[in-house]
Amino acid sequence: MRTGVWLVGARGSVATTSIVGGLALRAGLAGPTGCVTELPELRGPALPSFADLVFGGHDLATTPLSKRAEALADAGVIPWRLVAALPDELNAVEQELRPAPVGATQAHRADAVVRDLTSFRERHHLDRVVVVNVSATEPAPEPHPGHADPAALRAALAGPDEVLPVSSLYAYAAVLAGCPYVDFTPSTGLRLPALAALAEEARLPYAGHDGKTGETLVKSVLAPMFAMRNLAVRSWSGVNLLGGGDGATLADPAANAAKVQSKQRVLGETLGYVPQGGTRIEYVEDLGDFKTAWDLITFAGFLGTGMRMEFTWHGCDSALAAPLVLDLARLTAAAHAAGHAGPLAELGFFFKDPLGSPTHSLGEQWARLSDFTRQLHAGGDGVHDNVG
Ligand SMILES: NC(=O)c1ccc[n+]([C@@H]2O[C@H](COP(=O)([O-])OP(=O)(O)OC[C@H]3O[C@@H](n4cnc5c(N)ncnc54)[C@H](O)[C@@H]3O)[C@@H](O)[C@H]2O)c1
Repeated sequence: MRTGVWLVGARGSVATTSIVGGLALRAGLAGPTGCVTELPELRGPALPSFADLVFGGHDLATTPLSKRAEALADAGVIPWRLVAALPDELNAVEQELRPAPVGATQAHRADAVVRDLTSFRERHHLDRVVVVNVSATEPAPEPHPGHADPAALRAALAGPDEVLPVSSLYAYAAVLAGCPYVDFTPSTGLRLPALAALAEEARLPYAGHDGKTGETLVKSVLAPMFAMRNLAVRSWSGVNLLGGGDGATLADPAANAAKVQSKQRVLGETLGYVPQGGTRIEYVEDLGDFKTAWDLITFAGFLGTGMRMEFTWHGCDSALAAPLVLDLARLTAAAHAAGHAGPLAELGFFFKDPLGSPTHSLGEQWARLSDFTRQLHAGGDGVHDNVG
């Protein structure tokens, strides 16, 4: 199953690491550590192989992909030997990267993206293209009447207003081009009633949002533990220190607010109450793509005895995110091939703020994901409609 992986934000750290990783896996130069679709519980014939993946994408930036890869190698995010071994492959992907669209109206810009997606699909004889948003986090948008339904949206887009945030404009174009869509960021993406309705009409699956790679991943394991032992979590406070492009974007208070909101859901929804405390994100340029998260949890046990735990996570964000981007592209392609449409709640395992998933618990999400992939490999069970 030849599958296009179209990355919005294709020259960013996560995208570049995903591309180098995908090319290295295809060439047999690296193993699949971190790719959950290579675990025995998930591996199988329904998924496109790494060799089946063809990369392309959009970015505002123009820095050559090879230069971005070299910078990540200098920073210790990816091994230098891979960048040195893959110059032709990286150059081939470079030919498939397009500038962010321009046009007088958002309708014109969406059409330009649709043209880029359809010509990519045709040029490479792809069975399908999965669009994955790994672009910079954007602030939550102002409400607009065009967000409500497809007809209002089409009418509004033809006018002069900036109706959709950029992430949603790409999501709209993905739907028009018949492409499944994955949002790895906390941005709005496809989460507007008009876009969800259009995806439904086009029988397209989509998944999101905001990749769960570090502190929130740990939270989604620890919070169910406190709940299952009937321990009362009194406070949970976290500080995240990070650099890189993502860190610089999150220095903007509005983007920061979108990210913090996405990180907080796990506690309230797992514990059934919201403990005191919050998460603070701070930009520390010197940390580059490496993030430190420090969490302090206070909790009460039997007869109200107070206790505390703390943990420190030192993660390389792009190395944690990239294998999940490849997993999501493979799983979403297989779901599309099997006829699934609507939000893929079964992929909640991958996200901080999972669309349609009834649970934030990593264990429960894992069970759902393995059932889902088992069905995909077995040829499905006839229940293909995820549309609510
Ligand atoms: N790394 C992780 O562990 C992780 C986890 C969850 C979510 N994310 C999200 O993934 C996204 C990417 O992270 P990153 O570290 O690669 O950031 P980055 O800043 O390195 O990359 C973002 C890229 O998006 C591009 N971009 C910005 N606006 C654009 C537009 N309008 N059209 C096309 N491209 C545009 C930028 O030029 C840049 O190349 C962020 O939103 C981040 O919050 C990352």
